[in-house]
Amino acid sequence: MDEYKAKAPQAKASPADMEQQRQAQRRVAWLNREFERLSGRRKKAYILTFGCQQNEADSERIAGMCEQMGYEMTNDPQSPDLVVVNTCAIREHAEKKALSQIGGFKHLKENDPGVMIAVCGCMVAQEHRAEQIKHSYPYVDLVFSTGSIHLFPSLLLEKIEHGKRQFRTEPDAYGLAEGMPVRRESTYKAWVSIMYGCNNFCTYCIVPYVRGRERSRKMEEVVREVEELVRDGYRDITLLGQNVNSYGQRDGFGYDFADLVEQIDRIGGDFRLRFMTSHPKDASDKLIDVMARSSHVCHQFHLPLQSGSDRILRAMNRHYDWARYEHVVNYLRQKMPDVTLSTDIIVGFPGETEEDFEQTLRALEQVRYDLVFSFIYSPRRGTPAAKMEEQIPPDVQGARFRRLLEVQNAISLAANEAQVGQTLRVLCEGPSHSDPDVYSGRTEGNKLVLISGRGPEEGTFGTVRITRADPYSLFGEWEG
Ligand code: 5AD
Ligand code: SF4
Repeated sequence: MDEYKAKAPQAKASPADMEQQRQAQRRVAWLNREFERLSGRRKKAYILTFGCQQNEADSERIAGMCEQMGYEMTNDPQSPDLVVVNTCAIREHAEKKALSQIGGFKHLKENDPGVMIAVCGCMVAQEHRAEQIKHSYPYVDLVFSTGSIHLFPSLLLEKIEHGKRQFRTEPDAYGLAEGMPVRRESTYKAWVSIMYGCNNFCTYCIVPYVRGRERSRKMEEVVREVEELVRDGYRDITLLGQNVNSYGQRDGFGYDFADLVEQIDRIGGDFRLRFMTSHPKDASDKLIDVMARSSHVCHQFHLPLQSGSDRILRAMNRHYDWARYEHVVNYLRQKMPDVTLSTDIIVGFPGETEEDFEQTLRALEQVRYDLVFSFIYSPRRGTPAAKMEEQIPPDVQGARFRRLLEVQNAISLAANEAQVGQTLRVLCEGPSHSDPDVYSGRTEGNKLVLISGRGPEEGTFGTVRITRADPYSLFGEWEG
């Protein structure tokens, strides 16, 4: 996989490339209209998404292209004419789930050979997985990686017209594409990708191999997209990147992430701005200063620690130590005492001793995060950590994982209980899935609040008095 490291950052997909895709879109749309004229039925597309917010954002682009190609989007996996499985490769479990779902779509093709099955995303950018799909899943028609998403219409058209299976699985062969259509899942919450790929090569992580080298969108493009979203009534906007703090650094823009946030903050309107993910080595005091004086940026920060042990952080190639991390947390709290903090932790990284693990527990006790996403280390083929000696046995990993959850649950509960009695502004999300009489909303810190009784309309702001808390959510009553 080392050959990927040598690659230079890619050029943008040119306007001519994008025009070619629009032509393919129009051609598929024409074919689909013909189908509808003859059969009296409109073709349907179903997208199944695994993994992170980047993947969700990518799926919204794929859905946008599907709509332009005349498909009606459906949530019903039983009878679509086009299936797209957007996969994740971050841990083995994610890959297993995706492969089993892809296997489950075989019968669709058996019932109707006209059904098209596409697999995209991080999993298929690994050579061995692309080969596996090629040989063991012969009913899959198209395979494309995250860097080739904008080629979806031409790949689909090629398969429809010439019958040849299409594979475009280079992680970042086509750089950055502007101007793809988008069909957003929500009418009030939106993802905005500001950059793609990652250059950090943390030793456990597959992302740099499957999403390719870091490349950033220009500030003017990002600002324009956010302006349009605010104009369209979006109230909660999250800027996405694997390492937002290094935004623009590789592209020689002459401005950085803090400048981008400051610029977006100038947009008028009632909206919340968030971003993720920050890397502790690059999260700057300048960014924190911009956040603290902004009017739209939520006082919320996701800062993956991964481990509290300097020795393990070095083995992970994280380029910071606990002292540096602590500085960022202290500065955040100094400038925004009400900041909500969350983190990612990997348990059972190769070589992790009991003492290393206890340092992680001590870090959790010291920072007192509101929320921790913890993961058992999962070896990823081709990454340096997968080849390290001293892999930790699963029973030790499991026992440490449970201890960590126990420690953190008590901390999360205390953090949430500290909000009881407060009156908070929430963005309303309508009735909850489990109980139509219970409404939900999100605080500025992105905490879930469950509120009994009908509240303001979904996508508008309301006021809630917090009455109770558990480790995962707050409970409250409407005040307005
Ligand atoms: N095993 C377990 N967790 C991982 N993560 C990334 N790679 C792995 C892996 N191989 C976690 C990190 C990262 C989060 C998105 O997923 O904590 O921050
Ligand atoms: Fe993976 Fe590290 Fe890049 Fe995050 S910063 S995507 S953990 S390599």
